[in-house]
Amino acid sequence: MDEALIITGAGTRVGLHCALRLHQQGYKVLAHYHTEREELEQLRQRQIPCLQGDLSTREGIEQLAEALVDRCTSVRALIHNASAFETTPTDATAATDLFGRFYHIHMLAPYRLNQALSKALNNCTAEHSDIVHITDIFADNPNPVFDIYCASKAGLANLNLSFAKQLAPKVKVNAIAPGPIRFKAWHSEAVQNSIIEQTLLKTEGGEEAIYLAVQCLLDNPYMTGGTIKVDGGRSIANL
Ligand SMILES: NC(=O)c1ccc[n+]([C@@H]2O[C@H](COP(=O)([O-])OP(=O)(O)OC[C@H]3O[C@@H](n4cnc5c(N)ncnc54)[C@H](OP(=O)(O)O)[C@@H]3O)[C@@H](O)[C@H]2O)c1
Repeated sequence: MDEALIITGAGTRVGLHCALRLHQQGYKVLAHYHTEREELEQLRQRQIPCLQGDLSTREGIEQLAEALVDRCTSVRALIHNASAFETTPTDATAATDLFGRFYHIHMLAPYRLNQALSKALNNCTAEHSDIVHITDIFADNPNPVFDIYCASKAGLANLNLSFAKQLAPKVKVNAIAPGPIRFKAWHSEAVQNSIIEQTLLKTEGGEEAIYLAVQCLLDNPYMTGGTIKVDGGRSIANL
């Protein structure tokens, strides 16, 4: 595949929406997904190739890296969207296990895929190719209940800077730090209302807000090592 736009975690929610919108804009989307689910039909109907992979293990990461290198002769963009979000368990062994899982998904997977695809990113015929890391506003201001999640996203934010330095001038490397974009089914109404109250714009952002930030980064020829916050002002509220 030439000039592929690879997006991880594209089976549902933000990743699925971005994959569909970028395909609509004419990008040659290659979607990674984790769990087989009905929503994937929306990608398959459009002949968007879908590759399954579990990014919580070293083997799973290596398998996906190898499959992508085999398939892609050149890459226009690599979007690291795959993520897991859970509170830290109180049990020490369970917390250590979670640390390993989040480290693999949020840090090692983007690191290895960036390395493995750097040649294909350099082969892109456009003036620039792009890497986009989807982090979180919690990377700068962690919520201690989610300390392992926040620390692993902070690690990803730091990798964003290293890769911007390593892959310039051909590859632009940027991050998007979302705030409350789409609540999980397990967020209670009371929690949702209190989080919305903490934003300046008084609403959750929705998937389109992230797609618009991705498109902005792909279009902008003079941004690298940057981060766009898409958080309705939550990170500066109450200061
Ligand atoms: N939603 C928000 O309000 C919000 C807030 C801050 C930051 N963000 C960030 O924005 C991005 C998109 O948010 P989202 O809410 O759409 O994310 P999400 O639903 O939590 O997860 C994104 C994708 O990651 C995949 N994933 C989970 N575990 C995986 C594994 N072991 N291997 C491979 N893929 C795996 C999921 O697939 P399965 O479901 O099939 O496992 C899912 O498709 C994420 O990076 C998230 O951290 C979102």
